[in-house]
Amino acid sequence: MKHLIDPTDLTKPEIDEIISLAQDIIAHRERYQGSMSHRKLATLFYEPSTRTRLSFTSAMMELGGNVLGFSDARSSSVSKGESVQDTVRVVGCFADVIAMRHHIEGAQLYATEVSTVPIINAGDGSHSHPTQTLTDLLTIQRELGHIDGITIGFCGDLRFGRTVHSLIKALTRYKDIKVILIAPDELKLPDYIKQDVCERTGIPYREVETMEEVMGELDVLYMTRVQKERFLDEDEFDRVKDSFVLDSARMSLAKQKMAVLHPLPRVNEILTEVDSDPRAAYFRQVENGKFVREALIVKLLEWKDDPAHGMPEDEEPIVDSELRCPNRKCICNNEHAPHKFHRAENGVLRCWYCDSKVR
Ligand code: CP
Repeated sequence: MKHLIDPTDLTKPEIDEIISLAQDIIAHRERYQGSMSHRKLATLFYEPSTRTRLSFTSAMMELGGNVLGFSDARSSSVSKGESVQDTVRVVGCFADVIAMRHHIEGAQLYATEVSTVPIINAGDGSHSHPTQTLTDLLTIQRELGHIDGITIGFCGDLRFGRTVHSLIKALTRYKDIKVILIAPDELKLPDYIKQDVCERTGIPYREVETMEEVMGELDVLYMTRVQKERFLDEDEFDRVKDSFVLDSARMSLAKQKMAVLHPLPRVNEILTEVDSDPRAAYFRQVENGKFVREALIVKLLEWKDDPAHGMPEDEEPIVDSELRCPNRKCICNNEHAPHKFHRAENGVLRCWYCDSKVR
């Protein structure tokens, strides 16, 4: 059965199918109304959300389906200690597909081990956010007319920004991508993305510390919020939060055909004076999120019983009673998930659920 936990769970042809269906839904919305009647989507949100949860809800409503779930786990039996796996076993009796956001990394992957319905990762901690990635890909396609060949700058919090990690992984499927990383030392992209993703797949990347030095090269500028809740140390947050702010002066250095994306919410990293610039695509990006989630729901339910659309072949996990995942926000340090590992191509041992480096 097909789940969407990480962007690499989708093959390039599957991504193309979803993007293409989303574009068809945009062009012919009436054709799809009612196509999911009698189908139910459960939205299980253990962490706050506006766009992801409401766009899933709106997407299912546009398709004529129904939505159930919770937006605050404290109102569910999670507050009595129910595990992630037990919760999805139960919700699978009520819904055809589950979209789950969780602050614990790897929670959705762990849930797939027992789920009877497709699970969509709607964001797990700082790890991955694949439906935002589909939204971003559709937005780039619609704004520029192509994804191959782009130079994309990622700016701000590249360390904790799960949307950045997921989009870089997905871009490895496209041709001639160049990545520029614009971040202070404290918020640089994790090594596992640089080594296991960019270097392994041959995507050129370079790291810079100011927006000015690269603005003129970019086809896409992907801005991110410096997220206070990701910091253990508030002083560190205060020191870096205003480092990378997009304003009209910086926009004047950019190409005329260029797109500014942001997964939102923003705080002050894009001044409101930029909103009226035609290159500011972030509110169009929000609407694209609804269309691409409609396409994803349709495709996952279509593919559910089709062996041609299973999950990628997994290698056997490595289990060693001496080894522990070092990430205290990983599912295996929060529930009874086993500590198990996979070996990346460069030989590094990583947690099966959250990809943290073990040794
Ligand atoms: N982009 C995004 O994930 O927004 P929410 O946190 O509001 O869902």
